[in-house]
Amino acid sequence: MEAAAVTGSALSRREFLRASGQAGLGAVALAAGGGALLPGRSGATGHPGSGGVREISLEAREVRWELAPGKVIKGMAYNGQIPGPELRLREGERVRIVLKNSLPEPTTIHWHGVDVPNSMDGVPGITQKPVAPGQTFVYEFEPRPTGTRWYHTHFQEHRQLDLGLYAPLLIEPAGPDPFPFDREYTLVLDDWATGTGRPLPSTREGTAGGRGGMGGMMGGGMGRMMEGMMGRGMGGMMGGGQHPAYDVMTINGKAFPASQPLTVREGERVRLRLINASADHTHVIRLGGHRLRVTHTDGNPLLQAMEVDAVPIVPSERYDVLLAADRPGAWFLYCAEPGHAVAGEQVLVLYEGHERDRAEPPVEGVAGLTLWRYDLGRGREVLPPPSGQERTFDLTLSGGMMGSEVWTINDERYPHTEPLRMRKGDRARIRFRNMSMEAHPMHLHGQSFKVLAVNGQRLAAPIVKDSVDVEAHMGSVVIEFTAHNPGDWFLHCHKPMHMEGGMITLAKIA
Ligand code: C2O
Ligand code: CU
Repeated sequence: MEAAAVTGSALSRREFLRASGQAGLGAVALAAGGGALLPGRSGATGHPGSGGVREISLEAREVRWELAPGKVIKGMAYNGQIPGPELRLREGERVRIVLKNSLPEPTTIHWHGVDVPNSMDGVPGITQKPVAPGQTFVYEFEPRPTGTRWYHTHFQEHRQLDLGLYAPLLIEPAGPDPFPFDREYTLVLDDWATGTGRPLPSTREGTAGGRGGMGGMMGGGMGRMMEGMMGRGMGGMMGGGQHPAYDVMTINGKAFPASQPLTVREGERVRLRLINASADHTHVIRLGGHRLRVTHTDGNPLLQAMEVDAVPIVPSERYDVLLAADRPGAWFLYCAEPGHAVAGEQVLVLYEGHERDRAEPPVEGVAGLTLWRYDLGRGREVLPPPSGQERTFDLTLSGGMMGSEVWTINDERYPHTEPLRMRKGDRARIRFRNMSMEAHPMHLHGQSFKVLAVNGQRLAAPIVKDSVDVEAHMGSVVIEFTAHNPGDWFLHCHKPMHMEGGMITLAKIA
């Protein structure tokens, strides 16, 4: 159960997680200490060092973490908390982040959605050597672009990310914010395999929309039809086998009723920064009694806020939403995916003076709701203009057939995938086509991109992102970016099991 078992190959990942979950059940002592931490609100531990560089210390170590009373797991955390400390940085300020690895195994940190220099990108074997146990590594960069970003381990993410090595990274604009607010909360969503509850079905369907209701979230699309026709077992096999048995869902590291209520005051505009750190699940976030106005996609501002009933968020995506606090009472903010709220993914939103009100329980499913989709947003021109050549790359995503854990790009598994070669300043276009039965949230390191088209439909005003969901069953997405950041950049599916299975390639910018 201790570190030796973790690094040994004898235990499968699922067995390990189950074992650690059960070991944790006996440990009651943590409750007080764990409860004292306020994940997501503890702020950066930084202080100005010499020469105006802000220094921040992060220590990765094992932790016993109480997801909810009676559900204690052996996880991994930055500075002992899940999520790790929220870093609030100013656009362009110089920061030096010292990572001390107190884990019994190597690790690295990736600054997801931040245009760092390539050597600071945290990809072991590509941009740096893994940080060995007991060693430190110094990350230094000027945070850009502004918005809700995050940081997480990039070493064996299928274990380390899943065990808690992630945290919010907020880059505040040097100038005024295009969407002012009175109060804000950061909410990080995650799924856990603890062996203590009924496993939740994994997410196969996409969220990108644009197929007139045929594909997309819970629309009874092809995936479900096939599953119905062929039986659950077969559907499971076709969807790619050995998923960990996720059975607990958390918001800021806590499952309801342990989740920390959010306080609001009538009349306020409240900004919620939603981050999906899950390895597998899409979460569909909804607030009882209120609509939500999407203002930022992966941290990048829209031209105007877009009001919806609920926001589907795929692994690694972020959405900032504004909430007009105009219905005093007690409400649940929760995930509408069947089973998720019950598994813990709900948090109370309490208006001041209504702390004792009773909140209506969450409603499962999304029938009749207006859901956020990529083509609903109007993006701003925030990317640097291209100066070089146009280059187009076609990437076909496949794999997962008959329960296999093989996931490919153009029929190859990383490291055998063909790198995408471009020059600094080029206008690069990537056309994804998904021939598999599962959606893939594809993430590009080092620079953000525009989403030009989804399932053959052009977006009127492309939104800007760094992760994009490519729907299953021949879903397609076209992205475009200016290759402004030189280096070797990972481009991969953000489901760690799919990465592990080979769905990675490199964008090489010379
Ligand atoms: Cu958020 Cu390569 O990852
Ligand atoms: Cu994938």
